[in-house]
Amino acid sequence: MLMHTRRIRRDPLAFLTVMKDQYGDVMQFPIPRPPTYFVSSAAGAQRLLVGNASNYGKDTIQYRSLSLVTGLGLLAADDSDWRTQRPLVQPAFHHSALAGLTDVVVEEAGLITDTWRSQETGSMIDVEVAMMDIALRVVGRALFGDDLRGRSAELAQATLAALEVVIQRSRVPISIPRLIPTPANRKLDRSMARLDQAVGELVRQRRVESSSSAGLSGTPLLLDLLLAADLSAAQVRDQVVTFLVAGHETAASGLTWALWLLAAEPRWQDRLADSAELADVFPVVDEALRLYPPAWVITRHSRNQDQIEGREIPAGALLITSPFVIQRDERYWEHPQRFDPSRFEGVKPQRVAAYFPFGAGMRLCIGRDFARWEMAVVLRELCQVFRLQRAGTSSPRPLTEVTLRPGDGMPLRVWRR
Ligand code: HEM
Repeated sequence: MLMHTRRIRRDPLAFLTVMKDQYGDVMQFPIPRPPTYFVSSAAGAQRLLVGNASNYGKDTIQYRSLSLVTGLGLLAADDSDWRTQRPLVQPAFHHSALAGLTDVVVEEAGLITDTWRSQETGSMIDVEVAMMDIALRVVGRALFGDDLRGRSAELAQATLAALEVVIQRSRVPISIPRLIPTPANRKLDRSMARLDQAVGELVRQRRVESSSSAGLSGTPLLLDLLLAADLSAAQVRDQVVTFLVAGHETAASGLTWALWLLAAEPRWQDRLADSAELADVFPVVDEALRLYPPAWVITRHSRNQDQIEGREIPAGALLITSPFVIQRDERYWEHPQRFDPSRFEGVKPQRVAAYFPFGAGMRLCIGRDFARWEMAVVLRELCQVFRLQRAGTSSPRPLTEVTLRPGDGMPLRVWRR
């Protein structure tokens, strides 16, 4: 393991893929504690997330680090906490909200098309910046009823700065306690204070103007559900930050990679531009999330002993599985490296084996329909107005941060149709 440290840091995706090829479906890393396994088969991931899900909790280094920022909100909460929280927020994600989401996304995409139109046609534009921006505004307006535009830069920067520290912490096995004022801990404190302030303002403003606007298509607004529940200020803050973190960078990452994939496919761009139904766009969304699943690893902690793919897993183990590795495995996918949205045409992605960009089982992403819908509308709106082209021939190597992100932004050439 020590010999491989540099390799793991440089390209964990390649490392995990090699481990799968070399050691099979369930391999144990040679590190003393906790016993740590990589589960790289579709059946193994199914056992972990669905078949015996109640045996596997979220008390892992990944979620402990994330919870420094999100607290024990819905994403990082375990067991009984999670069971109380999920029904509380579920009404905000009712299917009927999606029609209202279209209006919000169309309006926000209009701001991007206006900005891009004002540039000379054929200019290079960093689409990652635009996708980070739109994803934040959409999640903000849809869930918190507030036009975050004025505060979006502050919130996004504070979130990203806090998450950066979290990523660094989760990469080293021994973390320096939070109370010791190391530069990293101080940076985390500063960004948390900024986040707290921004969220505090959001909540204050909503309390003042409460009930002036509802959620999408008449569904309750997430923020109102939280404010009406018997929660402390800290609990409200944890949920707000959780939903910002879970719903912002993930969708932005998915959109950024989808645009990059589309930029090499003029035929698919034309199809999106002409699409009458959103259903025509979903195959592109689903295929982009196959090749570049923003949540590239999922981790769990075993409560009791179990067997996965015939291998004994002791209690107290750390289990790692990866949508990125499994969704590119040629045992399950023909020409797995090829971008081919037609594989999802007429197919319900939730029924596809070896495909779980939104997780699976009881801890399935609560924002799955929201995110697919949002991505489909953004892609359609942009392709109707512009053609995209890659600038060079090399592929950006995804950085494995909280989500998969391109290292140096995503500059694409943008032409008006
Ligand atoms: C392309 C975009 C997205 C991707 C790829 C994604 C991926 C995921 C994955 C893989 C999980 C499960 C994690 C695990 O099992 O350990 C998850 C959970 C979650 N996601 Fe998403 N997500 C996306 C968008 C969103 C959006 C837009 C929201 C909110 C508006 C959201 C909110 C959440 C929450 C709250 C959870 C925890 C659910 C629970 O445990 O009950 N996500 N997401």
